[in-house]
Amino acid sequence: MRSEICVIAIFALLVVGSSGRSRARAETVQPSSSLGKCEVIRDKLAKYQSVCKKIIQDRRRHIQIYDNLARNLQFNNTHLQSTIIEHAATIISRNDLLVNCEREAKEREKKLCSLGIALNSTLIQLRESNETVAALSSQNALLESELSEKKAEIDKQNETIDALSTLVGNQNSSVLELKQANMLQLKELADHQNTINMLQAELVRSNAAVEALGKQNDELRAQLSASNASIKHLNELVEGYGSCCQASSCVAFGASNTVHMIQVSGVPDPFQVLCNSQLAGNGWTVIQRRINGEVDFYRSWDEYKRGFGNVTGEFFIGLERLHHMTKDTPQQLYVWLEDFSNNTRYASFDDFKIGSEQEAYALLSLGKHQGTVGDAMRMNRGQKFTTFDQDNDADEVNNCAELRHGAWWYDHCGYSNLNGFYAEADLEYDYADKGIFWADDDFHESDYSLKSVIMMIRPKVSKETL
Ligand SMILES: *[C@@H]1O[C@H](CO)[C@@H](O)[C@H](O)[C@H]1NC(C)=O
Ligand SMILES: *[C@@H]1O[C@H](CO)[C@@H](O)[C@H](O)[C@H]1NC(C)=O
Ligand SMILES: *[C@@H]1O[C@H](CO)[C@@H](O)[C@H](O)[C@H]1NC(C)=O
Ligand SMILES: *[C@@H]1O[C@H](CO)[C@@H](O)[C@H](O)[C@H]1NC(C)=O
Ligand SMILES: *[C@@H]1O[C@H](CO)[C@@H](O)[C@H](O)[C@H]1NC(C)=O
Ligand SMILES: *[C@@H]1O[C@H](CO)[C@@H](O)[C@H](O)[C@H]1NC(C)=O
Ligand SMILES: *[C@@H]1O[C@H](CO)[C@@H](O)[C@H](O)[C@H]1NC(C)=O
Ligand SMILES: *[C@@H]1O[C@H](CO)[C@@H](O)[C@H](O)[C@H]1NC(C)=O
Repeated sequence: MRSEICVIAIFALLVVGSSGRSRARAETVQPSSSLGKCEVIRDKLAKYQSVCKKIIQDRRRHIQIYDNLARNLQFNNTHLQSTIIEHAATIISRNDLLVNCEREAKEREKKLCSLGIALNSTLIQLRESNETVAALSSQNALLESELSEKKAEIDKQNETIDALSTLVGNQNSSVLELKQANMLQLKELADHQNTINMLQAELVRSNAAVEALGKQNDELRAQLSASNASIKHLNELVEGYGSCCQASSCVAFGASNTVHMIQVSGVPDPFQVLCNSQLAGNGWTVIQRRINGEVDFYRSWDEYKRGFGNVTGEFFIGLERLHHMTKDTPQQLYVWLEDFSNNTRYASFDDFKIGSEQEAYALLSLGKHQGTVGDAMRMNRGQKFTTFDQDNDADEVNNCAELRHGAWWYDHCGYSNLNGFYAEADLEYDYADKGIFWADDDFHESDYSLKSVIMMIRPKVSKETL
């Protein structure tokens, strides 16, 4: 650009020079030399050249300055721009602040207003309070006068108190005495406490003792139960005695298996009985026994009435005695059976009762059956006694005593015949239905004659006597 400016400057000089020349030509039309003229032009050109040089230098300097200015300006411009931006931001924030300030100012104003109201009301209250205070002051004055009156009263009371004090002083001595008494009582109380403690310990021991006693009690109860058993036994024994301490049954002889005298009410004289305690417990009185065939049992009514045989061997006790023995005292009947193979069975009944001679010594009752062999006497219940010479049986054609070769409470002869013919051994068929039999499907039928029979009775022990 500078070079362009310079070219323009030189061209301008040339234009200026040529016009000068034409003026010079006009001047040099004179006959001066043309060489002079060229020298002048040359000088002028040199002058122009220096001028041009100077101009160029200026221009360069100016360009320099302009460049600097431009640079400076640009810098300032950007600076200003950033400054402007900053200012704008500042203005915005200031504006915000201003808005806030305005809002706050309004709020303040509001608060101030409300505070003013509050203040006003406070003032009103204060005024009222002042009035109240004034009222109170007047009241206070009144109270003070009252107080002074009260003080006077108190003074009076003080005197009374003084008087009372001396009284208290006197009482103090009694209090002292009471205190001493109290001390004594406290001591006594402590003693009582000790006693209580001791008693409590004793109670604990007692509890243990009670526990031990409980155990002992249990033992005693067991013993009592045992005692009850022996009392029962003794009662049985007692029951074995009739009036005047004479035994009325084998119960009186306890565990006896021998012959004893008994006296049965209704029977004129005492008589011998065999006792048995081997088969079914103590106290049984044997009423009939078959063991060896030594004694003939095919006997008359009169003999069965009185009894017969050997009390240590085979015998029948007698229907009259049996009637009196079973008349008033309920009796159990125990029938023991043995065959020739030494097998044994028993049947027992709990209410055995024989009628009087007028009743033909009927089997009035037998009671409940129980045992290891069946009830072969079930047909005989209620039947009268029959002997070969006195036919009381239910068989209207025959005498069962003859048919069975015995004497019994026959009906249509029935299933039992314990007073039958004694066979030396089981004589099947030969003496069928005539031997000693107790018919039972599970034992022997009427065709088997047994080896041994024992019939015995014992009083039922009544519950009332226990
Ligand atoms: C640029 O700013 C400086 C300082 O603020 C000042 O002296 C100068 O004159 C300014 N230049 C232009 C070209 O405005
Ligand atoms: C307070 O009470 C005075 C006069 O008693 C009244 O001029 C003033 O406006 C009240 N100010 C307000 C805030 O109510
Ligand atoms: C309350 O009473 C006191 C003096 O008794 C007085 O100085 C004060 O101004 C009163 N205030 C008003 C609210 O009346
Ligand atoms: C009453 O007596 C007591 C002492 O006895 C004393 O301290 C008190 O001030 C008395 N009171 C008056 C009202 O005299
Ligand atoms: C009574 O006795 C108590 C203590 O026992 C004592 O403090 C009190 O002053 C006594 N009062 C008088 C009147 O002696
Ligand atoms: C013993 O017999 C009596 C009455 O006879 C009865 O009250 C008691 O409970 C019996 N005691 C025992 C332990 O059997
Ligand atoms: C009675 O029977 C026993 C045993 O069978 C016998 O020893 C005794 O001699 C008999 N006595 C009489 C008198 O028959
Ligand atoms: C039955 O017992 C008697 C005596 O107890 C004995 O002599 C006899 O040999 C026994 N009979 C049988 C078949 O066991």
